Amino acid sequence: MAAHGNTAVLVLFSFLQVCVSGFPTNNREPVCGYKSCPATQPSMLNVHLVPHTHDDVGWLKTVDQYYYGDRNDIQHAGVQYILDSVVEELQKDPTRRFIYVESAFFYRWWKQQKQATRRIVTQLVNEGRLEFINGGWCMSDEATTHYSAVIDQMTLGLRFLNDTFGPCGRPRVAWHIDPFGHAREHASMFAQMGYDGFFFGRLDYQDRERRKKAKELELLWRASESLSPPTADLFTGILPNGYNPPDGFCWDQSCTDSPIRDDPDLEDFNVHDVVQLFLETAHNQSKIYKTNHIIMTMGSDFQYENANLWYKNMDKLIRYVNGQQAAGSKVNVLYSTPSCYLQELHRANSTWALKTDDFFPYADDAHDFWTGYFTSRPALKRYERQSNSLLQTCNQLEVLGGPRSRSGPFGKGSSDFMRRAMGVAQHHDAVSGTEKQHVAYDYARRLATGWDYCQILVMNSLAVLSGSDDMRAFCEGLNISVCPLTESSKMFTMSVYNPLAHPISWYVHLPVNGSAYSVTDAQGKPVASAVIHISKATQVLRGDRGFAQNELVFQVQAPPLGYSTYSISLLQNRPLPPPPRPKAPLTMQNKYLKVTFDPATGLLSSLSNLETKQSIQLSQNFYWYNASAGNNEESNQPSGAYIFRPNTSTPFIISKTAKIQTVQNGVVQEVRQVFSPWVSQVVRLHEESRELELEWTIGPVPFQDGLGKEVITRLDSSIKTAGYFYTDSNGREVLERRRDYRPTWKLIQSEPIAGNYYPINSRAYIKDKEAQLTVVTDRSQGASSIVDGSLEIMLHRRLLYDDVRGVGEPLNETGEAGPEGLVVRGRLLLTLTPPDTAANTHRPLAQGQVLQPLLSFTEGAPKPSTRLQFSGLQAALPPAVHLLTVSQWDYDSVLLRLEHQYQSGESKAFSQPVTVNLQKLFSQVEVLGATEMSLGANQWKSEMSRLDWRPSTGTAAPPPKRPADPSPWEVTLNPMEIRTFLLRVRQS
Ligand SMILES: *[C@@H]1O[C@H](CO)[C@@H](O)[C@H](O)[C@H]1NC(C)=O
Ligand SMILES: *[C@@H]1O[C@H](CO)[C@@H](O)[C@H](O)[C@H]1NC(C)=O
Ligand SMILES: [Zn+2]
Repeated sequence: MAAHGNTAVLVLFSFLQVCVSGFPTNNREPVCGYKSCPATQPSMLNVHLVPHTHDDVGWLKTVDQYYYGDRNDIQHAGVQYILDSVVEELQKDPTRRFIYVESAFFYRWWKQQKQATRRIVTQLVNEGRLEFINGGWCMSDEATTHYSAVIDQMTLGLRFLNDTFGPCGRPRVAWHIDPFGHAREHASMFAQMGYDGFFFGRLDYQDRERRKKAKELELLWRASESLSPPTADLFTGILPNGYNPPDGFCWDQSCTDSPIRDDPDLEDFNVHDVVQLFLETAHNQSKIYKTNHIIMTMGSDFQYENANLWYKNMDKLIRYVNGQQAAGSKVNVLYSTPSCYLQELHRANSTWALKTDDFFPYADDAHDFWTGYFTSRPALKRYERQSNSLLQTCNQLEVLGGPRSRSGPFGKGSSDFMRRAMGVAQHHDAVSGTEKQHVAYDYARRLATGWDYCQILVMNSLAVLSGSDDMRAFCEGLNISVCPLTESSKMFTMSVYNPLAHPISWYVHLPVNGSAYSVTDAQGKPVASAVIHISKATQVLRGDRGFAQNELVFQVQAPPLGYSTYSISLLQNRPLPPPPRPKAPLTMQNKYLKVTFDPATGLLSSLSNLETKQSIQLSQNFYWYNASAGNNEESNQPSGAYIFRPNTSTPFIISKTAKIQTVQNGVVQEVRQVFSPWVSQVVRLHEESRELELEWTIGPVPFQDGLGKEVITRLDSSIKTAGYFYTDSNGREVLERRRDYRPTWKLIQSEPIAGNYYPINSRAYIKDKEAQLTVVTDRSQGASSIVDGSLEIMLHRRLLYDDVRGVGEPLNETGEAGPEGLVVRGRLLLTLTPPDTAANTHRPLAQGQVLQPLLSFTEGAPKPSTRLQFSGLQAALPPAVHLLTVSQWDYDSVLLRLEHQYQSGESKAFSQPVTVNLQKLFSQVEVLGATEMSLGANQWKSEMSRLDWRPSTGTAAPPPKRPADPSPWEVTLNPMEIRTFLLRVRQS
């Protein structure tokens, strides 16, 4: 295997830098990481003070307002001053420590520093006095993020740290002190990124109480059912006081606790009181933890802007508390970091409670379930998901098109803007929907800038690959039938780029004004198409943004990691398509599925899979929960951006019946349902599809009645679920859920609806012995099964009160339409299959929703020299393999991630090891060498070693014995495994 990079040259270079910088300590090998940890006292209780700041990458202010300290009228917070001040204070005493977490901010600050400051900071990092923890671009949300975007944002931050500081910049510990519940897939990813441990602050209040009593606040999380232990084992610590200091010890300028007044000649000498309170606090805390080490988080949101206040008082605290040791005290307090604390826990050589489920949902009190944000801001959640798709396409085309994609006929294209905008959007107040409105707009604006640069890159790359530099239009409004080019053109060309490593077929609906078109594929073969009338709901929704009367519908195919081109031209003098019929036929059927509707109500009534000869009763309707206004007897908690709290357990039906129209032709069948002026849906079955599409449109949600509304759709089926349902974790492994139940403690259920909601990122399903009904979604949402046989998904929320968790605004999105309220449209895909190990189709279906084909349009017919079809792969990858990442890393290297997309035991056909040949992957990019890396791509796999932890129950994990790869080029993937490679390449 070829070694990567110019290692020798770089070593020499950094050696020279060291000599020039002139700090005496630089003559030594840098001692960072575990080796730099302070000494502790084995026979005492050691209290690790961890100075830290929690810097939200946008929340009440935008990320840049936070960075600069702008708009301090909203919240006093300025990250640049924090870093200035901390660096100053760290230099005053070598025992002082600080950790920094959010690379999005550190990157901004570092760019602006002079060489002299950079040298000082580098030295602090090399000596472990300033330590990076977590290190992603942001501290991601865990409920509403998709694993692909999480891996990207971690990679972005970790790469910046490695590029800037080398190995001493590599974080050992994952640190999610604020996210509102914790996903098992996040733990699995952190383990695979090489983290030795994980700390967080929030978990269900009942769970916390139980763990305190059982001394199980520190545990071993076995985060995958498929990966053999300890691959996805992660030591997990729950912090004693969220992420705040203990009561009485907050010395930030934003706090009001007394400073240590230690001059006996002055008034109010309080050293004795402070020391006593501290010893008491430490002893109490040690009772709920297992070892003679405890941790205290000395900091909070945006603290340390004037770090002198904190350090001056902590210096004194350490001096006076340890001063008591001479008098027999057995408490030793020290400046420390999460990794130094973790190292001591590891040295304790204890065993730790094993956990295999997750930490959702999170409740901080009996009526305070943080399950609303699973759905909050559904339009932003969708835009974030689409942006991920475009980023992956942009990354791939940057590799396939080579350097000319960054600088070509359409100007300077780039994937960097989108990568950073997506990094920011993963923050736990971004895609989660818990930010202020102006901040939500800022996230969207950043993504939009990312789109602009990616679209230029895509055009440049496709010009390289196709040989045609015709201008392309990207029609971003296709979901509301808006595309100026197709609406007016008599002849146009459409390319379909497929970012998946498997061939796809896909249905397009293009807004047009003609009544018939000829469509031909890249081989010149005619493609069946149909023209249908645009629905009233769509016309209202698009307003004056488009003027098409009709939609042209046809199926397209595209090769793996490539494009195919279609030519479309208007046929003159053809009759208009028949208008939608006001009623019947109330059955839709193709080769695969049969769907019936109840003629009396217009609602779905059954779904049958004609291939497997399965049939279920299935009705579906829309409802809303009346959001609590915070004024009832049990609790004054209202529903808000974070919290879901209906004030009754029975949702209101929007309409018992739907007015329907039907459309039927050889390409598509639709039943268009109107439930009310603000709720409509198209139930759609394409001729060649194995799934049923439900395209819902909701809004503006009325609020003139003074009632906040949380709108759901509910599927009621004949499936015998007995309280069980299934939800995915960050789009990957699926967890079993059970109504009114938690696997790890005896639940006292106090919110029968909100307390049963779970996040879904890409799918949920219900099943019994005979059948499985799967719903694949197009964005993250909240879901539950409140009664047997039923699955409900929350689609939209409009609320009139703030839920008192800090955002200070009701979640009342108005959108473009003005005060009327935001209208949201989305899609659910339904499949009916045998349960478990049969031909399960939800994996590829869900990946196809996440990575959608990118359509681009050009006016007229393609030039004869244009290459109409292209695949970047030599062949499609095996069905079990998902191509997770193809991204330019350096001028001569490409980051590649291959993923086994099935769980073990999930599919008879596909839950098997599968081998891919890296050299035979690409059709045009020549692979010269490959080196395996950790999942976060900041460490060579061969150098990766993690601390080992022993569970108190179950099996201790022997090192996994995976069979060696068949050859250096042929790599084997086991179920749910992701392997990351840096490829040395030659590109055209
Ligand atoms: C840790 O504990 C195990 C079992 O009690 C023991 O076998 C092992 O030697 C211990 N390791 C260390 C480093 O003390
Ligand atoms: C980390 O960065 C250094 C340069 O600081 C580079 O030489 C090295 O290859 C990087 N390591 C990885 C694993 O990317
Ligand atoms: Zn936060």
